[in-house]
Amino acid sequence: MPEKTIESVSHEDRVFEPPPEFAKGAVIASRDQYESLYRHSIDDPEGFWREQAQAFHWFEPPKRILTWEPPFAKWFEGGTTNLAYNCLDRHLDGPLRNKAALIWEGEPGDQRVLTYYQLWREVCRFSNALAGLGIEPGDRVGIYMGMVPEAVIAMLACARIGAVHSVVFGGFASDAVRDRMNDASAKAVITQDGTWRRGSVVPLKEQVDRAVAECPSVEHVIVLRRTHNDITMTDGRDHDWHELVKDQKPVHQAPALDSEHPLFILYTSGSTGKPKGVLHTTAGYMVGTALTSKYVFDLRASDTYWCTADVGWITGHSYIVYGPLANGASAVIYEGAPNAPDPGRFWSIVERHGVTVFYTAPTAVRAFVKWGDEWVNKHDVSSLRLLGTVGEPINPEAWMWYRSVVGQDRCPIVDTYWQTETGSIILTPLPAALPTKPGSCSMPFFGISAKVLREDGSEAEPNEGGLLVVDKPWPSMLRTVWGDDERYKQQYFSRFEGKYFTGDSARRDTDGFFWVMGRIDDVVNVSGHRLGTAEIESSLVSHADVAEAAVVGIPDPLTGQALVAFVTLKGGVQHSAGLADTLKGHVGDDIGKFARPKSIRFADALPKTRSGKIMRRLLRDVAAGKEAHGDMTTLEDMSVLSALSGEDE
Ligand code: WTA
Repeated sequence: MPEKTIESVSHEDRVFEPPPEFAKGAVIASRDQYESLYRHSIDDPEGFWREQAQAFHWFEPPKRILTWEPPFAKWFEGGTTNLAYNCLDRHLDGPLRNKAALIWEGEPGDQRVLTYYQLWREVCRFSNALAGLGIEPGDRVGIYMGMVPEAVIAMLACARIGAVHSVVFGGFASDAVRDRMNDASAKAVITQDGTWRRGSVVPLKEQVDRAVAECPSVEHVIVLRRTHNDITMTDGRDHDWHELVKDQKPVHQAPALDSEHPLFILYTSGSTGKPKGVLHTTAGYMVGTALTSKYVFDLRASDTYWCTADVGWITGHSYIVYGPLANGASAVIYEGAPNAPDPGRFWSIVERHGVTVFYTAPTAVRAFVKWGDEWVNKHDVSSLRLLGTVGEPINPEAWMWYRSVVGQDRCPIVDTYWQTETGSIILTPLPAALPTKPGSCSMPFFGISAKVLREDGSEAEPNEGGLLVVDKPWPSMLRTVWGDDERYKQQYFSRFEGKYFTGDSARRDTDGFFWVMGRIDDVVNVSGHRLGTAEIESSLVSHADVAEAAVVGIPDPLTGQALVAFVTLKGGVQHSAGLADTLKGHVGDDIGKFARPKSIRFADALPKTRSGKIMRRLLRDVAAGKEAHGDMTTLEDMSVLSALSGEDE
């Protein structure tokens, strides 16, 4: 095996064909249909995207589909459009006018439904309010809110008037808000007094006050009252949301914005260094998110669609707000925690709102496994017809659990691979057209030329692990890192000239299916075997007692690196030295002796980013007995880390 490849040790071979009843009425109903559209999209990308673009409202149709001066892309040049217009106004003349756009549930149990017409009115009023404060096209506006309809209204209003929003996840503290607002030179910040989380108030306005004190560019702070906790309002700077909008007209003429008009900046943390402001622009992002929403989630008029992400992440941007609304879907939004007041909350929401399409993260699935089947079984979840995951590789056993317990062996699962940078889903099954395999994100979406490359740039053989790249531009790709073209080039286009490098390792199997093996920085090298972490973790998770696992390498004089596995157990299982030996043996039998962890450490929880990804970088330090270092602002719970530095079993 050439030195630089990454060895795959997975032997997952279960295959599930699309259920025949699912194909009836599906948007893409057969593999042939997928193959021929895919071929068209790759052989004649400009023709393909020109056709797809016709489904949208343009004030001025695009004159040129693509200008590619690597690594800079422009899509749909010469066209003018408006994303908010495409998500709202264009639906008002037909049957969607009085259809639910947002079905919202607060953590305390309060509910609101906004129809397309009602949402449009609110967005118009807020657009007028922003314009009234002097926010102009191109100005940056921060949004630091919880999961309330106003967060969506704020995003759409910015998109409508051409202001560039930058949503900061409500779980971040003031420093993160400050750094992001300063990097973007935001003119205004939209926030709320507080948000509900497991019955307590998370005081957002307080954090904004602290942040904005050090943000010279911020002139206005708009505050929605949600939790009615005490807040301080600064005269001249702070505005009460309701006061501000109450006299605004509920009509607003959406301006024609250039296709490449900047739409939003979303910060994503690198493993070290300052966060990167990923910039997306209007038309390409619109076309990409709308098309993937329609095809991947097989959206139909009767669906009640629920993506459990937060609007603070790209998943919330693309698959709560822009993609679903551009398709006229009815989207559920839930404000609070999945285990408030009990671990059955999600399934209660599914039951009461009749959710048909459910999209969540592997970390959530593993939490459901840990909490136990009974929480799902208590509720009638038979309305579900399609399930999805995003955010990390999903361990085959967690996938199987999701399929049988939540999906009742009936619902296909779409394991969707993408990134903040890609804007929309790039590798995915299409639920009626392609079979699914537990742990595989399946095939490239239309227009995505994905490859697995060796370090030398040659293409890897089937099942040979390598680096995952996209070697042609696509409409919803990031355009640059805000204010830092050089970092954009370095980060994404320097490994292979002119090709987008994802930072992930992957293999493609003999059927052409992609399997993501983890971040390239997490690859371990044991006795000359270069291994992605996902497969060893999946082996651990396939043991009946294990809920979640994270594997890292530590220096080892004999083998180069040795594996340390951090393991959380299912509810009710006790840890012991005996169990640690059993698990080592389990991996040895499952994969091979070389992959046996040298030590197993049991933990109650693993360190994760606030979006639920395991932070192996911190675990490497813990495993090596070092003080954890590097950027820790994205760590969800500091106490997890200190709890981990305990004794080995
Ligand atoms: C990982 C989230 C395997 C991957 C939309 C990627 C996945 C990073 C999957 C991007 C998946 C996301 N299978 N890995 N289905 N989806 N990832 O920017 O490492 O928060 O590079 O975007 O998550 O995370 P981001």
